[in-house]
Amino acid sequence: MGRFWHSFADMSAIEAGGEFVLDRGDGIHVWDEDGRRYIDATAGLWYCNVGYGRGEIADAAAAQLRRLSAYSTFGDVSNRPAIELAERVADLSPDPDSKVFFTSGGSDSIDTAAKMARRYWQLLGQTDRTTFITRENAYHGMHVAGTSLAGIASNAAGYGALVTDVAKVPWDSPQGLRDTIDAASPDRVAAFFCEPVIGAGGVFAPPEGYLEQVRSICREAGVLFVADEVITGFGRTGDWFASNRWELQPDLITCAKGITSGYLPMGAVVASPLVAEPFWNGTAGLWRHGYTYSGHATVAAAAMANLDILEREALPKRALQLESDLADALSPLAAHPLVQEVRAGTGVLAAVQLSAEAMAEDPTLTVRAIRACRQAGVMTRALATGGLQVSPTLVIDQAGLDELREAIRSALDVLVE
Ligand SMILES: Cc1ncc(COP(=O)(O)O)c(C=O)c1O
Repeated sequence: MGRFWHSFADMSAIEAGGEFVLDRGDGIHVWDEDGRRYIDATAGLWYCNVGYGRGEIADAAAAQLRRLSAYSTFGDVSNRPAIELAERVADLSPDPDSKVFFTSGGSDSIDTAAKMARRYWQLLGQTDRTTFITRENAYHGMHVAGTSLAGIASNAAGYGALVTDVAKVPWDSPQGLRDTIDAASPDRVAAFFCEPVIGAGGVFAPPEGYLEQVRSICREAGVLFVADEVITGFGRTGDWFASNRWELQPDLITCAKGITSGYLPMGAVVASPLVAEPFWNGTAGLWRHGYTYSGHATVAAAAMANLDILEREALPKRALQLESDLADALSPLAAHPLVQEVRAGTGVLAAVQLSAEAMAEDPTLTVRAIRACRQAGVMTRALATGGLQVSPTLVIDQAGLDELREAIRSALDVLVE
């Protein structure tokens, strides 16, 4: 019997079927303990933007570990890597006058943003503004706030009431958001949470004009706009943030993953000057919020080295080219009998959607497809819709994209034989 309790797992099945143990990574590939190589279709869990095996991130972390591994940043205590990283993230964000609150990951960032939003309104005397609005298909992490904001219904089921003051809107309808704000009465709504491109929910790019419209609806209603850029931040949609690309000027940005490319765990909330103001001008006094590892010195040093690579190799810009290369590379798969459609073309983000009919006929199809992909030498995973996630590192080239497609194709062929 194993002891390691996996995330998002049926442990009885893993006890029966065994664990799949990865050992190392380099560039766009990872290797298992038996030495088999896999092309990584998912960049880990959407995070490994710079690819695996970057010695300079390891060196930066090792140097910082030797100097000062970590020290809490509660109160007035600070460290140079965290100070510098905050400056750098603010400079890369849509508003360089933003303030940066560090966390340990995406779910922490969502929790922090939710509390920051409600607290902001309390500080302004608008104490009724407590409602959060979220979209169908949304994924905002698995803390209590994020679970409550889940647009993937199965992710919120089974706990009873968590945060109850949450309204859900269609993922693609600005009018739906407007109606919901009006129904709640605008002065009760604290914030709207929005992934610029929906990720785990199935990879759904925003319909033309959607982001701009929901941004302006929030502005008109005085509702805070939270861009959840845990996936899209740090290059994946062709700019440092999707908010830069779509000129969203969010009130809050939540991020994680790409800030370190997953070399060490970290998240952040980027607060616009509007939201930061009452916390920084004395109105709030001491805000009793933060985490042991907020502003962790070694993680911040690793993040700086990661941003050096993203910048030096112009990976956000490269992602803009890759978004069409990825879509072109995957598009032939749409003709496969097991595939309903390929969703791609916005950012280095794609889903190879298995056909609803085939999935209804064989409920194990997605799991079998992922296993077959592994057999064919590609690591992928299932999205909420039963699509296969394809969000490779930003250092993949045409040969890598072709390798990805052919491995997925041969895996799907095995399933129809
Ligand atoms: C959009 C979005 N928000 C939040 C999270 C939660 O991040 P974490 O798993 O680091 O807690 C994720 C994770 O995939 C995500 O995709």
